[in-house]
Amino acid sequence: MTSPATHLPAGYSLRVMEERDHPSIAAICKAVYPNEPPYSHAELVAHHRVFPEGQFVVQHDESQRAVGGHFTLIVRMKSFFLDDSWETVTAGDTFADHDPAHGETLYGADLIVDPNHQHHGIGRALTLAARELAVARRLWRMVGGSRMPGYGKYVNALPPDTYIARVKEGTLVDPVLTAHLHDGWDVLAPIRGYLPFDVESAGWSAVIDWINQNCPPPAGEEVDRLPRHRPL
Ligand SMILES: CC(C)(COP(=O)(O)OP(=O)(O)OC[C@H]1O[C@@H](n2cnc3c(N)ncnc32)[C@H](O)[C@@H]1OP(=O)(O)O)[C@@H](O)C(=O)NCCC(=O)NCCS
Repeated sequence: MTSPATHLPAGYSLRVMEERDHPSIAAICKAVYPNEPPYSHAELVAHHRVFPEGQFVVQHDESQRAVGGHFTLIVRMKSFFLDDSWETVTAGDTFADHDPAHGETLYGADLIVDPNHQHHGIGRALTLAARELAVARRLWRMVGGSRMPGYGKYVNALPPDTYIARVKEGTLVDPVLTAHLHDGWDVLAPIRGYLPFDVESAGWSAVIDWINQNCPPPAGEEVDRLPRHRPL
């Protein structure tokens, strides 16, 4: 695994989130999720209180502003259904289900990069920083729910698993799922209702995982064997 810093352009640095980053993070959210209220100060304080070392930002050094963030928590995946919503897995964005004593999975709750700073490797650096944390904590994988904002245009033409297969083979490009695939995530399954507000993805997401090859999996922990609430 290459070091996260090697993917950052000159003039940017990676660190954990501090309180002074909250306004910048809210501004990035407004830009990338215009239909959703941004993280509040109280929510970001809660993330930091629960798991400070799992909240990463990339800062633009000249302005000292955060231009990207990656927010994670440690969960015991067996406590969930495969198609649980983001709201459920993050305990209503409180991260109150962060369970470092029993959890085996680093959950990627969000990855955001300011549109003015995208396509420079910042998303990849934030992804690799979280993977370094998973390795340091001897967690055997990361799991997340990937938006697929290109799918809205295809929802009447292709079932979600066919759309994902086309994105994987490269015949379709999705602005978010393609980025995750390029960053070494695997798709486990399409799920509905993970982010109900996400009209661009037609309410669909892909459960994705990345395996820490240095750490053997606990028995019977395969995410894609978790029961679902809803049929595909
Ligand atoms: C997804 C996101 C975090 C990527 O951030 P980024 O800093 O632009 O990504 P990077 O520059 O590190 O690119 C990483 C890889 O993804 C690819 N990629 C990034 N954006 C892409 C796009 N729109 N389409 C296709 N590929 C893309 C890059 O080409 C690169 O792969 P490569 O090196 O093999 O070419 C960013 O687009 C974003 O914030 N999106 C909106 C918020 C969101 O939906 N987050 C995901 C929640 S699940």
